[in-house]
Amino acid sequence: MKNQEWKEDGKSRVRSGPEEGRDNRENRNEITRRTFLRKSLLAGAAAGAAANGLFPFIQTIEVAFGAEAFSFAWISDSHLYPKTLNTRFVEKVERAVNEVKAMKPAPDFLIYGGDLAQLGDPVELDLGAEILKALTLKKYYIPGEHDWYLDMGEKWMKLFGKPNWTFDHKGVRIIGLDTISRGPDYWSAKKMSPQERMGHMATLDGSVAGTWAGVGKDQLDWMSKTLSDWPKDKPVIVFSHNPLYEYYPPWNFWVRDWRDVQAGLKPFSKVTSVHGDSHQVLYNEIGKMRSIGMLATSWNWPYPPEGVPVLTTPMVRVDPGDHFDGVGWSKLAVTAADKVNNEYVMWRKDVFAQTQVDSGTGDNTNQILSPRIADRP
Ligand SMILES: [Fe+2]
Ligand SMILES: [Fe+2]
Repeated sequence: MKNQEWKEDGKSRVRSGPEEGRDNRENRNEITRRTFLRKSLLAGAAAGAAANGLFPFIQTIEVAFGAEAFSFAWISDSHLYPKTLNTRFVEKVERAVNEVKAMKPAPDFLIYGGDLAQLGDPVELDLGAEILKALTLKKYYIPGEHDWYLDMGEKWMKLFGKPNWTFDHKGVRIIGLDTISRGPDYWSAKKMSPQERMGHMATLDGSVAGTWAGVGKDQLDWMSKTLSDWPKDKPVIVFSHNPLYEYYPPWNFWVRDWRDVQAGLKPFSKVTSVHGDSHQVLYNEIGKMRSIGMLATSWNWPYPPEGVPVLTTPMVRVDPGDHFDGVGWSKLAVTAADKVNNEYVMWRKDVFAQTQVDSGTGDNTNQILSPRIADRP
């Protein structure tokens, strides 16, 4: 990654850049190792985090505008099975919840970013809701495909309400988008059972469910209406399960109507999209919109064979012998100058390599050096 600089202080590595030639070069995606927060201060957001006593395991999101500041936490992609089958993923989301609980000062709210369940089973969703109940702070939920396609969202909505929503918080307009429920009908003609329908949705590289991820015209209209009274230079944060750009369509790491989503957000100069689903370190900018992919608590997905956006510093392949390796959650900070910083804090020792690494697809050259097709000249 030629155009990315690393700062070394002997304890951690912080990515700061690439910044030259970018419209919003003041916005930085800062990434730290958890040991770093324990031992030293980092300029900018992490310094604030450390000063506030935030626990280093936790992926929190800290936002500050002028005199106002707040933090919030993101957890997603826990993929819970019923406890009778598997408690591995239960332990991980419980760890995340406990860490959020331990935050001082407490975050203002939690975003749960989808894929709470593995197969949409009501037992799984109830289990997740029960675990998250331990957090008494305000919680906002968006669905993932694993939550939805057994009963088409019935149980999820009973537990968590509407899958899209908006609110304002300390000078930020916040929007939760449902990128899940508008998948085309691939089941009726084939007379699939709900379990079969869900099974196809739960397959990363399956082709039967097709390009299911999308926002839909009705929701796009709703988003535009929601934003119609919002000043163009004030910050907007959009939460969604799927990325709001065409990262890798074969795995539905996108929404099929991403062009329309971006057109709707284009008038706004400070848009940050935060998404789940991809289970990996991921960063991209398109125009003035920045997109940051969150970690899962469950497992990492490999990077797609086409590679990652050029602004992403890929994470190192996960140790398969340690199921807490390479997962966790993240932290973002928006400063008084409206800079938005993201900080991943993973449950592992090393987050990034400074040299080329095999980050999961087995093709080192292709993986690290080739930008995804959409980024190539
Ligand atoms: Fe997921
Ligand atoms: Fe997902």
